[in-house]
Amino acid sequence: MLVPVWKRQVRVGEKTKPFPQIHTPENRLAEAVGLAKAIDLDVIDATIVPLSEPRPSTLLGSGKVDEVGQRVSELDIGLVVIDHIVTPVQQRNLEKAWNTKVVDRTGLILEIFGARARTREGVLQVELAHLTYQKGRLVRAWTHLERQRGGGGFLGGPGEAQIELDRRMLQDRIDAIKRDLKDVAKTRSLHRKGRRKVPYPIVAIVGYTNAGKSTLFNKITGAGVVAMDQVFATLDPTMREVKLPSARRIILSDTVGFISDLPTMLVAAFRATLEEVVEADLILHVRDIAHEETEAQASDVEKVLGDLGIDTLPVDNHILEVWNKIDLLSHERRGELQHESRRNARPPVLVSAATGEGMAPLLDSLDAQLSTADEVLDLIVPGSQGALLNWLHENCEVLAREARKDGSIELRVRVPSEKKASIIGQLRKAGLKV
Ligand code: GTP
Repeated sequence: MLVPVWKRQVRVGEKTKPFPQIHTPENRLAEAVGLAKAIDLDVIDATIVPLSEPRPSTLLGSGKVDEVGQRVSELDIGLVVIDHIVTPVQQRNLEKAWNTKVVDRTGLILEIFGARARTREGVLQVELAHLTYQKGRLVRAWTHLERQRGGGGFLGGPGEAQIELDRRMLQDRIDAIKRDLKDVAKTRSLHRKGRRKVPYPIVAIVGYTNAGKSTLFNKITGAGVVAMDQVFATLDPTMREVKLPSARRIILSDTVGFISDLPTMLVAAFRATLEEVVEADLILHVRDIAHEETEAQASDVEKVLGDLGIDTLPVDNHILEVWNKIDLLSHERRGELQHESRRNARPPVLVSAATGEGMAPLLDSLDAQLSTADEVLDLIVPGSQGALLNWLHENCEVLAREARKDGSIELRVRVPSEKKASIIGQLRKAGLKV
Protein backbone atom coordinates (compact mmCIF):
# COMPACT_ATOMS: atom_id res chain seq x y z
CA MET A 1 0.00 0.00 0.00
CA LEU A 2 1.63 3.23 -1.16
CA VAL A 3 0.38 6.77 -0.65
CA PRO A 4 2.38 9.14 -2.85
CA VAL A 5 2.62 12.61 -1.36
CA TRP A 6 3.95 15.38 -3.54
CA LYS A 7 6.27 17.88 -1.94
CA ARG A 8 4.37 20.53 -3.87
CA GLN A 9 0.83 20.28 -5.24
CA VAL A 10 0.75 18.93 -8.76
CA ARG A 11 -1.96 18.16 -11.25
CA VAL A 12 -1.82 14.72 -12.77
CA GLY A 13 -4.07 14.70 -15.80
CA GLU A 14 -6.88 17.15 -16.30
CA LYS A 15 -9.41 15.55 -14.01
CA THR A 16 -7.20 15.19 -10.96
CA LYS A 17 -7.71 17.67 -8.19
CA PRO A 18 -4.97 18.04 -5.61
CA PHE A 19 -6.05 16.39 -2.38
CA PRO A 20 -7.47 18.97 -0.01
CA GLN A 21 -5.18 19.78 2.88
CA ILE A 22 -7.67 18.47 5.44
CA HIS A 23 -6.79 14.94 4.37
CA THR A 24 -3.32 14.51 5.79
CA PRO A 25 -1.05 11.80 4.31
CA GLU A 26 -1.43 9.73 7.50
CA ASN A 27 -5.21 9.87 7.28
CA ARG A 28 -5.16 9.04 3.61
CA LEU A 29 -2.97 6.05 4.33
CA ALA A 30 -5.29 4.88 7.12
CA GLU A 31 -8.30 5.31 4.85
CA ALA A 32 -6.65 3.40 2.00
CA VAL A 33 -5.72 0.55 4.36
CA GLY A 34 -9.33 0.47 5.57
CA LEU A 35 -10.58 0.27 1.98
CA ALA A 36 -8.22 -2.58 1.17
CA LYS A 37 -9.33 -4.48 4.26
CA ALA A 38 -12.95 -3.94 3.26
CA ILE A 39 -12.40 -6.34 0.37
CA ASP A 40 -10.44 -8.75 2.53
CA LEU A 41 -6.99 -7.83 1.29
CA ASP A 42 -4.28 -8.70 3.75
CA VAL A 43 -2.24 -5.49 4.10
CA ILE A 44 1.39 -6.43 4.75
CA ASP A 45 3.04 -3.07 4.37
CA ALA A 46 1.74 0.52 4.21
CA THR A 47 3.96 3.46 3.38
CA ILE A 48 3.75 7.17 2.64
CA VAL A 49 6.00 8.01 -0.30
CA PRO A 50 7.22 11.63 -0.42
CA LEU A 51 8.02 12.66 -3.99
CA SER A 52 8.99 15.83 -5.78
CA GLU A 53 7.84 15.18 -9.34
CA PRO A 54 5.52 12.58 -10.85
CA ARG A 55 7.31 10.58 -13.58
CA PRO A 56 5.24 9.99 -16.73
CA SER A 57 6.57 6.48 -17.16
CA THR A 58 6.59 5.12 -13.60
CA LEU A 59 4.94 7.81 -11.42
CA LEU A 60 7.67 7.25 -8.81
CA GLY A 61 11.36 8.07 -9.32
CA SER A 62 13.71 5.23 -10.25
CA GLY A 63 15.27 5.03 -6.77
CA LYS A 64 11.82 4.64 -5.24
CA VAL A 65 10.81 2.05 -7.82
CA ASP A 66 13.88 -0.05 -6.87
CA GLU A 67 13.26 0.39 -3.16
CA VAL A 68 9.63 -0.71 -3.42
CA GLY A 69 10.64 -3.54 -5.75
CA GLN A 70 13.00 -4.87 -3.09
CA ARG A 71 10.30 -4.82 -0.42
CA VAL A 72 7.87 -6.50 -2.81
CA SER A 73 10.21 -9.41 -3.34
CA GLU A 74 11.41 -9.57 0.30
CA LEU A 75 7.87 -9.68 1.67
CA ASP A 76 6.50 -11.71 -1.23
CA ILE A 77 3.78 -9.16 -1.96
CA GLY A 78 1.13 -10.12 -4.51
CA LEU A 79 -0.48 -6.73 -5.07
CA VAL A 80 0.62 -3.11 -4.71
CA VAL A 81 -2.16 -0.58 -4.20
CA ILE A 82 -1.21 3.00 -5.05
CA ASP A 83 -3.59 5.54 -3.57
CA HIS A 84 -3.34 7.86 -6.54
CA ILE A 85 -4.25 7.93 -10.19
CA VAL A 86 -1.89 5.64 -12.06
CA THR A 87 -1.93 5.90 -15.84
CA PRO A 88 -2.10 2.69 -17.90
CA VAL A 89 1.52 3.14 -18.96
CA GLN A 90 2.70 3.68 -15.40
CA GLN A 91 0.74 0.65 -14.24
CA ARG A 92 2.27 -1.55 -16.93
CA ASN A 93 5.80 -0.35 -16.23
CA LEU A 94 5.47 -0.74 -12.48
CA GLU A 95 3.97 -4.21 -12.82
CA LYS A 96 6.92 -5.18 -14.97
CA ALA A 97 9.48 -3.64 -12.60
CA TRP A 98 7.99 -5.22 -9.49
CA ASN A 99 6.76 -8.41 -11.10
CA THR A 100 3.45 -8.05 -9.29
CA LYS A 101 -0.03 -6.66 -9.87
CA VAL A 102 -0.59 -2.93 -9.35
CA VAL A 103 -3.96 -1.31 -8.63
CA ASP A 104 -4.69 2.39 -8.31
CA ARG A 105 -7.27 4.17 -6.19
CA THR A 106 -9.99 3.94 -8.84
CA GLY A 107 -9.36 0.21 -9.32
CA LEU A 108 -9.53 -0.42 -5.58
CA ILE A 109 -12.80 1.49 -5.11
CA LEU A 110 -14.28 -0.29 -8.12
CA GLU A 111 -13.57 -3.61 -6.40
CA ILE A 112 -15.38 -2.45 -3.27
CA PHE A 113 -18.39 -1.22 -5.18
CA GLY A 114 -18.44 -4.47 -7.11
CA ALA A 115 -18.56 -6.41 -3.87
CA ARG A 116 -21.29 -4.22 -2.41
CA ALA A 117 -23.66 -3.40 -5.28
CA ARG A 118 -26.93 -5.23 -4.92
CA THR A 119 -29.72 -3.52 -6.83
CA ARG A 120 -29.76 -4.34 -10.53
CA GLU A 121 -28.98 -0.71 -11.27
CA GLY A 122 -26.07 -0.77 -8.83
CA VAL A 123 -24.57 -3.89 -10.40
CA LEU A 124 -24.93 -2.45 -13.91
CA GLN A 125 -23.49 0.93 -12.96
CA VAL A 126 -20.46 -0.69 -11.34
CA GLU A 127 -19.90 -2.93 -14.35
CA LEU A 128 -20.20 0.06 -16.66
CA ALA A 129 -17.59 1.97 -14.64
CA HIS A 130 -15.34 -1.10 -14.62
CA LEU A 131 -15.51 -1.59 -18.38
CA THR A 132 -15.01 2.10 -19.10
CA TYR A 133 -11.96 1.99 -16.86
CA GLN A 134 -10.60 -1.10 -18.63
CA LYS A 135 -11.30 0.30 -22.06
CA GLY A 136 -9.47 3.52 -21.21
CA ARG A 137 -6.50 1.40 -20.15
CA LEU A 138 -6.47 -0.58 -23.38
CA VAL A 139 -6.75 2.37 -25.68
CA ARG A 140 -4.27 4.55 -23.92
CA ALA A 141 -1.74 1.77 -23.54
CA TRP A 142 -2.05 1.19 -27.27
CA THR A 143 -1.63 4.86 -28.18
CA HIS A 144 1.48 4.92 -26.05
CA LEU A 145 2.89 1.83 -27.72
CA GLU A 146 2.13 3.35 -31.10
CA ARG A 147 4.12 6.39 -30.19
CA GLN A 148 7.03 4.35 -28.88
CA ARG A 149 7.31 2.34 -32.04
CA GLY A 150 6.94 5.29 -34.35
CA GLY A 151 3.81 3.69 -35.72
CA GLY A 152 5.26 0.59 -37.35
CA GLY A 153 7.44 -1.56 -35.04
CA PHE A 154 6.51 -4.64 -33.08
CA LEU A 155 8.07 -3.99 -29.71
CA GLY A 156 6.21 -6.19 -27.25
CA GLY A 157 2.71 -5.71 -25.91
CA PRO A 158 -0.41 -7.23 -27.45
CA GLY A 159 -0.82 -6.86 -31.20
CA GLU A 160 -2.95 -4.19 -32.81
CA ALA A 161 -5.57 -6.69 -33.94
CA GLN A 162 -5.93 -8.16 -30.44
CA ILE A 163 -6.29 -4.74 -28.84
CA GLU A 164 -8.86 -3.69 -31.42
CA LEU A 165 -10.79 -6.91 -30.79
CA ASP A 166 -10.73 -6.44 -27.02
CA ARG A 167 -11.71 -2.83 -27.41
CA ARG A 168 -14.70 -3.76 -29.60
CA MET A 169 -15.79 -6.47 -27.18
CA LEU A 170 -15.70 -4.02 -24.29
CA GLN A 171 -17.58 -1.41 -26.31
CA ASP A 172 -20.31 -3.95 -27.21
CA ARG A 173 -20.75 -4.82 -23.56
CA ILE A 174 -20.78 -1.12 -22.59
CA ASP A 175 -23.52 -0.46 -25.16
CA ALA A 176 -25.56 -3.40 -23.88
CA ILE A 177 -25.26 -2.19 -20.27
CA LYS A 178 -26.33 1.31 -21.24
CA ARG A 179 -29.44 -0.15 -22.90
CA ASP A 180 -30.17 -2.26 -19.80
CA LEU A 181 -29.74 0.78 -17.58
CA LYS A 182 -32.38 2.62 -19.59
CA ASP A 183 -34.80 -0.27 -19.01
CA VAL A 184 -33.93 -0.36 -15.31
CA ALA A 185 -34.69 3.35 -15.00
CA LYS A 186 -38.07 2.74 -16.65
CA THR A 187 -39.05 -0.03 -14.25
CA ARG A 188 -37.47 1.53 -11.17
CA SER A 189 -40.65 3.20 -9.98
CA LEU A 190 -42.41 -0.15 -10.27
CA HIS A 191 -39.78 -1.79 -8.06
CA ARG A 192 -40.18 0.97 -5.53
CA LYS A 193 -43.87 0.28 -5.33
CA GLY A 194 -43.03 -3.40 -4.82
CA ARG A 195 -40.56 -2.62 -2.05
CA ARG A 196 -43.14 -0.47 -0.34
CA LYS A 197 -45.16 -3.61 0.31
CA VAL A 198 -42.75 -4.05 3.23
CA PRO A 199 -44.96 -2.92 6.06
CA TYR A 200 -42.00 -1.69 8.10
CA PRO A 201 -40.01 1.52 7.95
CA ILE A 202 -36.58 1.29 6.32
CA VAL A 203 -33.70 2.67 8.36
CA ALA A 204 -30.48 3.11 6.36
CA ILE A 205 -27.06 3.37 7.97
CA VAL A 206 -24.77 5.75 6.10
CA GLY A 207 -21.38 7.15 6.99
CA TYR A 208 -17.83 7.75 6.01
CA THR A 209 -15.70 4.74 5.33
CA ASN A 210 -14.39 3.20 8.56
CA ALA A 211 -16.92 5.12 10.72
CA GLY A 212 -18.15 1.80 12.13
CA LYS A 213 -21.34 1.24 10.11
CA SER A 214 -20.99 -2.51 9.79
CA THR A 215 -19.96 -2.90 13.43
CA LEU A 216 -23.04 -0.94 14.48
CA PHE A 217 -25.24 -2.91 12.09
CA ASN A 218 -24.00 -6.17 13.59
CA LYS A 219 -24.36 -4.87 17.13
CA ILE A 220 -27.97 -3.81 16.60
CA THR A 221 -28.99 -6.92 14.72
CA GLY A 222 -27.11 -9.15 17.16
CA ALA A 223 -28.43 -7.47 20.30
CA GLY A 224 -31.27 -9.91 20.72
CA VAL A 225 -33.67 -7.63 18.92
CA VAL A 226 -33.74 -9.54 15.65
CA ALA A 227 -37.26 -10.57 14.87
CA MET A 228 -37.90 -14.26 14.80
CA ASP A 229 -39.42 -14.41 11.36
CA GLN A 230 -37.74 -12.71 8.43
CA VAL A 231 -40.00 -10.72 6.14
CA PHE A 232 -38.19 -11.93 3.08
CA ALA A 233 -36.02 -14.94 2.83
CA THR A 234 -34.37 -12.97 0.04
CA LEU A 235 -33.20 -10.03 2.14
CA ASP A 236 -29.48 -9.82 1.53
CA PRO A 237 -27.01 -9.84 4.45
CA THR A 238 -26.81 -6.06 4.52
CA MET A 239 -30.56 -5.76 5.18
CA ARG A 240 -32.05 -7.21 8.33
CA GLU A 241 -35.35 -7.11 10.08
CA VAL A 242 -35.05 -5.72 13.59
CA LYS A 243 -37.58 -5.42 16.38
CA LEU A 244 -37.22 -2.30 18.52
CA PRO A 245 -38.09 -2.17 22.26
CA SER A 246 -41.53 -0.77 21.42
CA ALA A 247 -42.21 -3.87 19.31
CA ARG A 248 -41.93 -1.76 16.18
CA ARG A 249 -40.23 -3.66 13.40
CA ILE A 250 -37.86 -1.98 11.03
CA ILE A 251 -35.67 -3.00 8.13
CA LEU A 252 -32.11 -1.97 8.92
CA SER A 253 -29.89 -1.49 5.91
CA ASP A 254 -26.09 -1.12 5.84
CA THR A 255 -24.60 0.82 2.92
CA VAL A 256 -21.27 1.26 1.20
CA GLY A 257 -19.00 3.81 2.89
CA PHE A 258 -18.43 7.34 1.66
CA ILE A 259 -14.96 8.04 0.38
CA SER A 260 -13.07 11.30 -0.05
CA ASP A 261 -12.18 12.43 -3.57
CA LEU A 262 -14.31 9.84 -5.28
CA PRO A 263 -13.04 9.49 -8.86
CA THR A 264 -15.54 11.17 -11.20
CA MET A 265 -16.13 8.02 -13.23
CA LEU A 266 -17.39 6.27 -10.09
CA VAL A 267 -19.96 8.82 -8.96
CA ALA A 268 -22.89 7.25 -10.83
CA ALA A 269 -21.98 3.79 -9.56
CA PHE A 270 -21.72 5.04 -5.99
CA ARG A 271 -25.11 6.73 -6.16
CA ALA A 272 -26.74 3.64 -7.58
CA THR A 273 -25.46 1.63 -4.61
CA LEU A 274 -27.16 4.17 -2.35
CA GLU A 275 -30.60 3.82 -3.87
CA GLU A 276 -32.23 2.50 -0.74
CA VAL A 277 -30.98 5.51 1.19
CA VAL A 278 -33.18 7.74 -0.94
CA GLU A 279 -36.14 5.55 -0.07
CA ALA A 280 -35.33 5.21 3.61
CA ASP A 281 -37.76 6.47 6.22
CA LEU A 282 -34.90 7.36 8.51
CA ILE A 283 -31.17 7.70 7.95
CA LEU A 284 -28.64 6.94 10.65
CA HIS A 285 -25.53 8.95 9.93
CA VAL A 286 -22.72 7.14 11.73
CA ARG A 287 -19.70 9.31 12.49
CA ASP A 288 -16.30 8.34 13.88
CA ILE A 289 -16.41 11.08 16.47
CA ALA A 290 -12.90 10.24 17.69
CA HIS A 291 -11.43 10.95 14.24
CA GLU A 292 -9.58 14.23 13.91
CA GLU A 293 -11.29 14.91 10.59
CA THR A 294 -14.76 14.01 11.80
CA GLU A 295 -16.23 17.39 10.82
CA ALA A 296 -14.78 17.28 7.29
CA GLN A 297 -16.04 13.71 6.89
CA ALA A 298 -19.51 14.67 8.07
CA SER A 299 -19.76 17.52 5.62
CA ASP A 300 -18.58 15.22 2.78
CA VAL A 301 -21.40 12.82 3.65
CA GLU A 302 -23.99 15.58 3.96
CA LYS A 303 -22.96 17.00 0.63
CA VAL A 304 -23.54 13.68 -1.13
CA LEU A 305 -26.85 13.16 0.67
CA GLY A 306 -27.86 16.66 -0.43
CA ASP A 307 -26.88 15.79 -4.02
CA LEU A 308 -29.10 12.71 -3.77
CA GLY A 309 -31.99 15.02 -2.98
CA ILE A 310 -32.08 14.18 0.74
CA ASP A 311 -32.76 17.10 2.99
CA THR A 312 -30.04 17.24 5.63
CA LEU A 313 -31.49 20.07 7.69
CA PRO A 314 -32.29 19.16 11.31
CA VAL A 315 -35.91 20.31 10.92
CA ASP A 316 -36.42 17.67 8.29
CA ASN A 317 -36.49 14.96 10.94
CA HIS A 318 -35.05 12.46 8.53
CA ILE A 319 -31.49 12.00 9.72
CA LEU A 320 -30.25 10.91 13.12
CA GLU A 321 -26.54 11.33 13.84
CA VAL A 322 -24.79 8.56 15.72
CA TRP A 323 -21.48 9.61 17.24
CA ASN A 324 -19.52 6.38 17.34
CA LYS A 325 -16.24 5.22 18.92
CA ILE A 326 -16.73 7.12 22.18
CA ASP A 327 -14.68 4.41 23.88
CA LEU A 328 -11.62 6.04 22.31
CA LEU A 329 -12.29 9.39 24.00
CA SER A 330 -11.13 10.78 27.32
CA HIS A 331 -13.65 11.31 30.07
CA GLU A 332 -13.47 15.09 29.58
CA ARG A 333 -14.00 14.91 25.83
CA ARG A 334 -17.03 12.68 26.30
CA GLY A 335 -18.50 15.23 28.71
CA GLU A 336 -17.92 18.01 26.19
CA LEU A 337 -19.62 16.01 23.45
CA GLN A 338 -22.58 15.11 25.68
CA HIS A 339 -22.99 18.80 26.31
CA GLU A 340 -22.63 19.64 22.62
CA SER A 341 -25.11 16.97 21.56
CA ARG A 342 -27.79 18.36 23.85
CA ARG A 343 -27.56 21.70 22.08
CA ASN A 344 -28.69 20.09 18.80
CA ALA A 345 -32.26 20.32 17.54
CA ARG A 346 -32.19 16.52 17.24
CA PRO A 347 -29.54 15.35 19.71
CA PRO A 348 -27.04 12.89 18.25
CA VAL A 349 -26.68 9.63 20.14
CA LEU A 350 -23.25 8.83 21.56
CA VAL A 351 -22.32 5.17 21.21
CA SER A 352 -19.53 2.68 20.98
CA ALA A 353 -20.49 0.04 18.47
CA ALA A 354 -17.43 -1.91 19.65
CA THR A 355 -18.36 -2.12 23.34
CA GLY A 356 -22.12 -1.80 22.96
CA GLU A 357 -22.28 1.32 25.08
CA GLY A 358 -25.18 3.60 24.17
CA MET A 359 -27.15 0.93 22.28
CA ALA A 360 -30.27 1.20 24.46
CA PRO A 361 -30.54 5.00 24.09
CA LEU A 362 -29.93 4.60 20.37
CA LEU A 363 -32.79 2.12 19.96
CA ASP A 364 -35.05 4.37 22.08
CA SER A 365 -34.11 7.32 19.94
CA LEU A 366 -34.89 5.34 16.79
CA ASP A 367 -38.25 4.45 18.25
CA ALA A 368 -38.93 8.06 19.17
CA GLN A 369 -38.01 9.29 15.69
CA LEU A 370 -40.30 6.79 14.05
CA SER A 371 -43.18 7.23 16.46
CA THR A 372 -44.08 10.83 15.80
CA ALA A 373 -47.13 9.80 13.76
CA ASP A 374 -48.12 6.90 16.05
CA GLU A 375 -51.52 6.59 17.61
CA VAL A 376 -52.32 5.61 21.20
CA LEU A 377 -55.43 3.43 21.59
CA ASP A 378 -57.39 2.48 24.72
CA LEU A 379 -58.92 -0.97 24.36
CA ILE A 380 -60.95 -3.43 26.38
CA VAL A 381 -60.17 -7.01 25.35
CA PRO A 382 -62.50 -9.80 26.57
CA GLY A 383 -60.74 -12.40 28.70
CA SER A 384 -61.68 -15.07 26.17
CA GLN A 385 -59.51 -13.41 23.48
CA GLY A 386 -56.10 -14.67 24.66
CA ALA A 387 -54.77 -14.99 21.12
CA LEU A 388 -55.70 -11.40 20.34
CA LEU A 389 -53.90 -10.24 23.48
CA ASN A 390 -50.74 -12.05 22.43
CA TRP A 391 -51.06 -10.61 18.97
CA LEU A 392 -51.33 -7.08 20.41
CA HIS A 393 -48.21 -7.62 22.51
CA GLU A 394 -46.39 -8.81 19.44
CA ASN A 395 -47.44 -5.97 17.15
CA CYS A 396 -47.86 -2.89 19.36
CA GLU A 397 -46.14 -1.33 22.32
CA VAL A 398 -48.29 -2.03 25.37
CA LEU A 399 -48.14 1.11 27.51
CA ALA A 400 -50.52 -0.03 30.29
CA ARG A 401 -52.43 -3.23 31.14
CA GLU A 402 -54.99 -3.81 33.83
CA ALA A 403 -57.25 -6.78 34.56
CA ARG A 404 -60.88 -5.83 35.23
CA LYS A 405 -63.34 -7.54 37.57
CA ASP A 406 -65.30 -9.10 34.69
CA GLY A 407 -62.17 -10.89 33.48
CA SER A 408 -61.54 -8.54 30.57
CA ILE A 409 -58.28 -6.66 30.14
CA GLU A 410 -57.95 -2.93 29.77
CA LEU A 411 -55.06 -1.96 27.55
CA ARG A 412 -53.39 1.20 26.39
CA VAL A 413 -51.30 0.52 23.29
CA ARG A 414 -49.17 2.55 20.92
CA VAL A 415 -49.80 1.64 17.29
CA PRO A 416 -47.00 2.28 14.78
CA SER A 417 -48.23 4.72 12.14
CA GLU A 418 -47.37 2.41 9.25
CA LYS A 419 -49.47 -0.42 10.74
CA LYS A 420 -52.35 1.68 12.05
CA ALA A 421 -54.81 0.78 9.32
CA SER A 422 -54.17 -2.98 9.43
CA ILE A 423 -54.21 -3.17 13.25
CA ILE A 424 -57.45 -1.25 13.56
CA GLY A 425 -58.90 -3.52 10.87
CA GLN A 426 -57.88 -6.63 12.89
CA LEU A 427 -59.35 -5.26 16.11
CA ARG A 428 -62.68 -4.45 14.46
CA LYS A 429 -62.76 -7.91 12.93
CA ALA A 430 -62.33 -9.35 16.43
CA GLY A 431 -65.38 -7.35 17.50
CA LEU A 432 -63.61 -4.63 19.48
CA LYS A 433 -64.78 -1.05 19.45
CA VAL A 434 -61.96 1.16 18.14
P1 GTP B 1 -16.59 0.66 5.47
O1 GTP B 1 -17.19 -0.70 5.20
O2 GTP B 1 -15.20 0.84 5.00
O3 GTP B 1 -17.48 1.77 5.03
O4 GTP B 1 -16.42 0.79 7.08
P2 GTP B 1 -17.54 0.79 8.19
O5 GTP B 1 -18.07 2.15 8.41
O6 GTP B 1 -18.55 -0.29 7.97
O7 GTP B 1 -16.66 0.47 9.49
P3 GTP B 1 -16.45 -0.91 10.25
O8 GTP B 1 -17.68 -1.28 11.00
O9 GTP B 1 -15.87 -1.89 9.31
O10 GTP B 1 -15.38 -0.44 11.33
C1 GTP B 1 -14.15 0.12 10.95
C2 GTP B 1 -13.14 -0.11 12.06
O11 GTP B 1 -13.52 0.63 13.22
C3 GTP B 1 -13.04 -1.55 12.49
O12 GTP B 1 -11.70 -1.83 12.78
C4 GTP B 1 -13.89 -1.61 13.76
O13 GTP B 1 -13.47 -2.61 14.65
C5 GTP B 1 -13.64 -0.22 14.33
N1 GTP B 1 -14.76 0.25 15.17
C6 GTP B 1 -16.05 0.29 14.84
N2 GTP B 1 -16.79 0.80 15.85
C7 GTP B 1 -15.91 1.07 16.85
C8 GTP B 1 -16.05 1.63 18.17
O14 GTP B 1 -17.12 1.96 18.66
N3 GTP B 1 -14.88 1.78 18.87
C9 GTP B 1 -13.68 1.43 18.38
N4 GTP B 1 -12.61 1.62 19.16
N5 GTP B 1 -13.51 0.91 17.16
C10 GTP B 1 -14.61 0.73 16.41
